[in-house]
Amino acid sequence: MYKMYINPNIKKGHINKEIYGHFSEHLGRCIYEGIFVGEDSHIPNTRGMRNDVVAALKAIKVPVLRWPGGCFADEYHWKDGIGPKENRKKMINTHWGGVVEDNSFGTHEFMELCEQLGCEAYINGNVGSGSVQEMNEWIEYMTFDGVSPMATLRAQNGHPEPWKVSYFGVGNENWGCGGNMTPEHYANMYRRYQTYVRDYNSDSKVFKICCGANSNDYAWTKGVLETCFKNAPEHLHGFMDGLSLHYYTLPKDNWQDKGNATGFDEEEWYTTLEKTLRMEELVKRHSTIMDEYDPEKKIGLIVDEWGTWFNVESGTNPGFLYQQNTMRDALVAGINLNIFNKNCDRVKMANIAQMVNVLQSVILTEGEKMILTPTYYVFYLYKNHQDATLIHSHLQTTTIGSKAHQVPNLHESVSMNEEGIINITINNLSVTESYEIESILTDWNIKDVKGTILTNKMDAYNSFEQPEAVGLADFTDFTLTEQGIKFTLPPCSVLHLEAK
Ligand code: AHR
Repeated sequence: MYKMYINPNIKKGHINKEIYGHFSEHLGRCIYEGIFVGEDSHIPNTRGMRNDVVAALKAIKVPVLRWPGGCFADEYHWKDGIGPKENRKKMINTHWGGVVEDNSFGTHEFMELCEQLGCEAYINGNVGSGSVQEMNEWIEYMTFDGVSPMATLRAQNGHPEPWKVSYFGVGNENWGCGGNMTPEHYANMYRRYQTYVRDYNSDSKVFKICCGANSNDYAWTKGVLETCFKNAPEHLHGFMDGLSLHYYTLPKDNWQDKGNATGFDEEEWYTTLEKTLRMEELVKRHSTIMDEYDPEKKIGLIVDEWGTWFNVESGTNPGFLYQQNTMRDALVAGINLNIFNKNCDRVKMANIAQMVNVLQSVILTEGEKMILTPTYYVFYLYKNHQDATLIHSHLQTTTIGSKAHQVPNLHESVSMNEEGIINITINNLSVTESYEIESILTDWNIKDVKGTILTNKMDAYNSFEQPEAVGLADFTDFTLTEQGIKFTLPPCSVLHLEAK
């Protein structure tokens, strides 16, 4: 019997809804086909956005969406994507398959998508190949409410009202595809570019995100913060509100052969989960460096790219990063979201890469068909953590896995929402074993519990032929005790318990 201690009296912080954020890049079939099909498409759409995809995304309460990249962001010139579509410039998407980008999805279309989803907009600006003026004018175009050259242009293009830009990234991966800069060089660029990301809208401030590290590149974090904080007025905390972090889970340490999305063995299951659990250490160690400069944690860690990265599905364009999604991805999602919840004092946003048809997607499409992936269902189960309060939990675990790759058998996080409902999300990482769990709640009398579970064999997935092979089921196999809830968690599962 594994004991899970929960103390609702110990409140540990606010879980920003943005931790459940998403990322959509001009990459492969994410935007085009996956989300945007154009008004003339035979696929049912509203102003060009697929109705089926938008409805599914609304059901998981997408809180924030990052766009237009990724590596694409540092090659994107926003003025190419406004005005009459027939006049929009065509460009080569050099990073992703060398295909023609016709710019038919631009700023107006992205803002329309955010409106349909009811989510915040996170725009990623271009530092690598863009000018300060271009970045400055983009912000003016989107947010200025008054008479100005960019506001007038926006009105001429059919949108007199300004939009709200909640988050703005000043460059992406500037240590790599965003310009191959050193931390000091980028930090100086950041200081300069961010100056012109103006707050035109007096009632909504733009949250500025500085480009942070890849994985365990702690020297980048240190170097960027050192330069950004040098002689900076204290109240501006290094001129940033957020610092990003990217970490992808690859089963093999080999970019030429990362491992396949399906058809893997148990060893690869445990290797993958072990690698994804490294997110905890990355968050903690980057945060500790941030503490040196920002002990009050005013700067958020923004994990704006995370998820699995496998070999592409055979027969697909290698530049399109299209991969299937199994129960292993579901466990990866559950573990990472628990980690973000538990580190919500520092992690203020996270964006899974990427929303549709690219890497660890919640949705896959093929023509007019759409399927929901196991990862989608995890976001569905975890949605009640959004904007809730993290409460203290401790779960007894044991180490399982192969000799070389060991992981805890169980992984959890617990929150309480405004109505006083406790939401428990718990993962069983074992491929074969079920575990009996007894939760013990301090000073809490549970009257009612509702359970929902995602469980299947480790490599089960939904396909266009079998779209409902993996899905949610009611979980009723629990008993209420004087102290809490007792239940048995089946192998390879993600469970959500809602306790009143
Ligand atoms: O998500 C795919 C790519 O991964 C992004 O464009 C880039 O930022 C990262 O390297």
